[in-house]
Amino acid sequence: MESNVKMKLIEAFSRAAEGDFVSGQEIAEVIGCSRTAVWKHIEELRKEGYELDAVRKKGYRIVSAPEKVTKTEIQIGLGTNRFGKEVVYEETVSSTQQIAHRLANEGASEGTIVVAEEQVSGKGRLSRSWHSPKFTGIWMSIILRPIIPIDKAPQLTLLAAVAVVQAIEEVTDTLPQIKWPNDILINGKKVTGILTEMQAESDGIHSVIIGIGINVNTKQDDFPDDLKEKATSIQIEQGKSISRAKLIQVLLLRLEKIYDLYLEKGFSPIKQLWEGYAVTIGRDIIATTLTGTITGRALGITEEGVLLLEDNKGEVHKIYSADISL
Ligand code: BTN
Repeated sequence: MESNVKMKLIEAFSRAAEGDFVSGQEIAEVIGCSRTAVWKHIEELRKEGYELDAVRKKGYRIVSAPEKVTKTEIQIGLGTNRFGKEVVYEETVSSTQQIAHRLANEGASEGTIVVAEEQVSGKGRLSRSWHSPKFTGIWMSIILRPIIPIDKAPQLTLLAAVAVVQAIEEVTDTLPQIKWPNDILINGKKVTGILTEMQAESDGIHSVIIGIGINVNTKQDDFPDDLKEKATSIQIEQGKSISRAKLIQVLLLRLEKIYDLYLEKGFSPIKQLWEGYAVTIGRDIIATTLTGTITGRALGITEEGVLLLEDNKGEVHKIYSADISL
């Protein structure tokens, strides 16, 4: 929505006494549009997370404004030592990954996060896009600087998936599961995607940027048609909205704890936790890789986080990157 129009509209509502309606006529005058165009702007406000009452002959009133995930909202009550101590917040970005890469190059410290209300070019795995409508989800990238060999970096994706599942479990009544390597599902539909990108040279890893996208308060209508079947949100699955800021706080704490455990004890304890949440293991799956399709039973993951798939001839394949269907 054009920000100038939005500002005028919000101002008109805030001039009215609390609970009072603002007539369509008044809104039309304030914005400088026709009476018939008013509903269009009201709909746009709704899309941005405002709840509005509309009553014939009275007009409109704001029932609630969207909760934001600003630096303050995230940091008040945050229980971490390092993660989220630096927060870069933007209302609209192209992709939080892009900003995090730039900050990492400029020397940002470990645990710095980039959060946005909306991404217009959100990035998914395998060169896909990630749908990130305003105020509905968590679109966040975190900068890590682990001192580990480059080939161990995929373990961090699995680690992040465990932290997200734990956080969602803690603040909702749902039971999320992980589909290898990093999709988080509730009732079989995808609620979270994780994208891990690395900056490394021959001297080792400079930074790992973990991008986490969680559909939190997304409504069914917010999803484009091609996603409606396979994507869901926490709100859809548990029937009520939750605070995105609270979920970010819990997630940062879980991430920090599990990352510290990883740095201290290695991947084994993380692998165990991951396997406890995995929906893929022990099941027949189809793995679509860049070079072809393999069907077989998912046996488990290796210490490196690689998926082991046994085909019907008994041959075991190591899957490094693929799309999995169950
Ligand atoms: C996937 O394909 O499943 C991964 C999706 C990752 C989306 C997140 S949202 C925050 C961060 N910024 C992006 O552009 N992508 C990641």
